[in-house]
Amino acid sequence: MNIYYYTRTNTCERIAHGLAEKYQCQARQIIGSIDYSGKTGFIRGGKASISKREDPCIYKRPDEDVKNILLVTPVWAGALPPAVRTFVKENGRENIILVPVSKGSKIKDRDGYKKVIDVVGGDYK
Ligand SMILES: Cc1cc2nc3c(=O)[nH]c(=O)nc-3n(C[C@H](O)[C@H](O)[C@H](O)COP(=O)(O)O)c2cc1C
Repeated sequence: MNIYYYTRTNTCERIAHGLAEKYQCQARQIIGSIDYSGKTGFIRGGKASISKREDPCIYKRPDEDVKNILLVTPVWAGALPPAVRTFVKENGRENIILVPVSKGSKIKDRDGYKKVIDVVGGDYK
């Protein structure tokens, strides 16, 4: 299993690291090319997510023989953040167990993944 995460405010990082400890592997970060920090970043991120933008991103390639890619991602405006959209496109939904983390809502476009495990409304600080 390979575990990946994208994060803006570290929630998904904490969850991914917890899972990595459990499964005895490394949590690998997906780093997007656009900075969405701060209040303006929140608004820009929401708009980019709604318009289904795909941001370039960098990450360590999945292992060649890997069967499951666990992807821990925030939900942005009911959808994937732009860098995560790129990651999913590059690696294929059929290989991904999606773990969308949100304050209250579930991801809308959820077909085609190996599995979707929603993490909604928890306090992971
Ligand atoms: C641009 C943006 C849009 C968001 N949209 C939603 C949403 O539609 N529904 C929801 O429940 N939470 C939404 N959130 C909250 C995040 O999904 C939630 O806080 C998540 O745990 C953040 O993960 P992170 O700390 O790893 O970045 C949004 C956050 C951001 C930054």
